[in-house]
Amino acid sequence: MHTFQPYPIDTVEINPFELVGKRWGVLTAEKDGKANAMTISWGGMGCLWNKNVATVYVRESRYTKEFLDGSDIFSITFFDEKYRSSLKYLGAVSGRDEDKIKNARLNINHYRGIPYIDEGNFVLILRKIAALDMKDTEFFDPNIHKNYYADGDMHTQYIGEVLELLAR
Ligand SMILES: Cc1cc2nc3c(=O)[nH]c(=O)nc-3n(C[C@H](O)[C@H](O)[C@H](O)COP(=O)(O)O)c2cc1C
Repeated sequence: MHTFQPYPIDTVEINPFELVGKRWGVLTAEKDGKANAMTISWGGMGCLWNKNVATVYVRESRYTKEFLDGSDIFSITFFDEKYRSSLKYLGAVSGRDEDKIKNARLNINHYRGIPYIDEGNFVLILRKIAALDMKDTEFFDPNIHKNYYADGDMHTQYIGEVLELLAR
């Protein structure tokens, strides 16, 4: 296992568009002693309710959603480019069907009991403070429904307060 250390959030320079949208991240949550993880490329970072927050968007069909709904804490791990194929794997296979973390050649590590992926180099530790279900009636652009929700598999927006930022 690698050694990660907490870093003050104001010492870190992040481009969230590049980090989340292009490099991707892995969302990890644990319930009843079992962790699951999935790749994400939609999300954001900013401030809300006087807190530093990160948001993620998880469709109803994802197995990881059950873990997020069953836990108060979750994490997002970011990686070097060399892990791209592992991230593609976590984004293509469901933890319902196999031990996908092992098969992606990744390992779960814990920070104060909170799971994240050990092979990453940068981790956001988050406390779930809101879960907002998206509804079709809320979209003003009709293309959003047509392009993303024609099958009814809606996203829930999870807002997490940044508790800790870990780096290797
Ligand atoms: C690059 C990439 C980005 C993804 N981003 C998201 C996302 O932001 N939200 C989401 O619900 N699914 C996203 N997915 C799909 C899930 O990662 C995928 O369905 C995964 O297999 C779910 O695993 P699970 O069933 O074990 O939770 C993404 C997949 C890839 C490859």
